[in-house]
Formats: sequence, structure tokens, C-alpha cells
Amino acid sequence: MFAFRVTATDGKARTGTLHTPHGPVQTPLFMPVGTQATVKGLTPAELHQVGSQIVLANTYHLLLRPGPELVARLGGLHHFAGYQGPWLTDSGGYQVMSLGHMRTITEEGVTFRSHLNGDLITLTPETSIQVQEHLGADIIMAFDECPPYPSERRYLEASLERTLRWLERSVRAQTRKDQALFGITQGGTDLELRRRSTRETVRFDLPGYAIGGLAVGEPKEKMFPTVALSTDLLPEDRPRYLMGVGHPEDLVAAVGLGVDLFDCVYPTRTGRFGYALVPEGRLNLNSARYKEDPRPLMEDCDCYACRTFSRAYLTHLVRAGEMLGLRMLSLHNVRYLHRLMEAARAAIREGRYAAFAWAFAERRFAGHP
Ligand code: GUN
Ligand code: ZN
Repeated sequence: MFAFRVTATDGKARTGTLHTPHGPVQTPLFMPVGTQATVKGLTPAELHQVGSQIVLANTYHLLLRPGPELVARLGGLHHFAGYQGPWLTDSGGYQVMSLGHMRTITEEGVTFRSHLNGDLITLTPETSIQVQEHLGADIIMAFDECPPYPSERRYLEASLERTLRWLERSVRAQTRKDQALFGITQGGTDLELRRRSTRETVRFDLPGYAIGGLAVGEPKEKMFPTVALSTDLLPEDRPRYLMGVGHPEDLVAAVGLGVDLFDCVYPTRTGRFGYALVPEGRLNLNSARYKEDPRPLMEDCDCYACRTFSRAYLTHLVRAGEMLGLRMLSLHNVRYLHRLMEAARAAIREGRYAAFAWAFAERRFAGHP
């Protein structure tokens, strides 16, 4: 049901197909984030139109509101949210640490106060999996702890050992066979700890593996060696998911290191802040710079915003605080990342990924928008 087939490789980069109960997805792939079971501002029809293949939702938020039983009664995420393609849910530990108040971590799990109403809630591997079974995503994530950066080695080590025990409990807690449970490696950017975490996680023989604990503020020269070590140790025949990474240049580099899946709020969040992703970086439409610019956001983009509106009009919408402007920037930004991954897949198939990455970097770091 969750077969993953690598169809071409180029160096460490791979392209392939991951099958899910709600259809196949092509990797490498960017997954837009729909924290509250909605990719902010975009309809399911628009997601299909821009080429989204799978959407991510968060256990933490949906547990607090509207509640997993309600989502289950209304047919699970696919029916409740009207998006019939594949879904992935994150397990909640990461969001508790970044959003919950008064968190305490014990061997049992994480206890925190709801950021909505102050209720005291405990999330454990068992409850996280139970919530994710109610939500009904195609891919669910093991309950883990993502330590902040920097953390002391002693803490990273204790935390990764606990995450491994939580992985064992997550695996035991799973009852549905129509959901793929992915394990998550931790260990920060300490290569020895990351090696240990990855080796132990792989022993569970899961349908996919995530590289967690990165993109939490560490410098890139620590993140990429950790990614490279991880992809060296993860099995070739299982999808590899780098969590929380979504800057275009990081996607291009990580695909080159053999990563298959990514998620990040970046394209939608930066869109809501009035920025448009382009090959040279970002256009800031809050500024007056483009207010008489008749060109589309991006010359060769096929998204609805670029086919319909000028930079001048979008600048007007953003500066006037009109919601259409922010919606259109999110739409364009998600399309931009999907096209970037489409181009990466084609380059891998044709054995020219290095040239692709080089050309991307030249435009991104030496080009002017
Ligand atoms: N999202 C980004 N990083 C992480 C992580 O380390 N763990 C989980 N569960 N989600 C994440
Ligand atoms: Zn566009």
C-alpha cells in the first residue's frame, strides 16, 4: 500500500514514486503545511491547480480544536477538509515545544497548557498515535522530542534515547494498517549522536524515515553535514523526509544529498507577509519598489496570480491589506516550490542534477530580481 520505488538516481539524488491509499506522489516533493487542516488561504481546487500532491496537518492544533473524535465522525481529514489527496500529520511533540505553555517532559510524554484555553493536556506516544488514527492521514509520524538549538550534548543524548523509547511505544500503539508510520531521527547536529539515532531508528524497519531536529536555528554548515550523514545511513528503498525545511536553496541542496520529502510554512507564511519567491530570492511587495511594475511576479510562472495580475496590482493589494493579495502570493509561492521540485525530478531523471543545482545557485546568489 505504501510502496516506494526509486525510478532514477543521479549521484545521491533520487526521484521516485511513493504510493499512498489516496494516490501516488512523485518525489522529491515539497508538502505545503495545513496546520489547521487548511493550507492558509488556498482551496483544495487551488492546491490541485498548483500541483500540491500531499498536505500536512498538525496533531497539536487539531487535538485542541476541533478535536480528533469530531474529525473522525466527519469522515477524517480527507472528508472533513474536502481535500481528497494524501495527507500527512505531524505527531505534536514539536508543536507543543514551540507553542504550548508550561511544558514538562517526562518519560510518559509531554504535559502542557493549551494555548487556546489553558487546559492541562498530556500528549504521549499512545495518545499522539490515537489522535493521528482519528484524523486519518495517509502518513503519520512517531511521537518525538525536538530539542532546541543549541542544547548540551548530555541533553541531546538523553532526549534521543527517550525518542527511541517513544518510537517503540508509537509503533506498538498503531492499530490501523492503512496508515504508514514514519520514524524520526534526532541527535541535533552532533554527528555521533545522529549516527546512533539513525541506526537505532532504522532497526524498526518502518515504511519511511524523517530527519528531525534540524532547521531549529543551527548554522547551515552544521545542518548539511547532518543531512548528508543521515542519508548515508537511511535505507535506499524508503522515503527520507527532512522536516521543517522549505527555503528553495535548502531544498536544492538537500535533494542533492538524497532527501525525498520536505515540509515548511515558509511559502505560505512569507506570502502572507507580502513576499513573492522568485529565482533570485524574494520580492517584497510591501515596498513601493514595484508599484508601477507591469510585469508578473515571475516571467515564466504558470500560476493564476502570474497569469492574471501585475506586480503593480499585487503591490496595491498588499499595501491596502486586501486578502486577495496575500492569497495570491501564497498561491504563487507554493507553485514556485512545486515547480522547483518538478524541475529537480526532471534533472535527476536526465542525469543533470549537478548542472541544475549550479544554475539554480548562480541565479539565486548572483542574480538580481
Ligand atoms: N518539524 C520540524 N522539525 C521537527 C521534528 O524534529 N519533529 C517533529 N515531530 N516535527 C518537526
Ligand atoms: Zn506565479
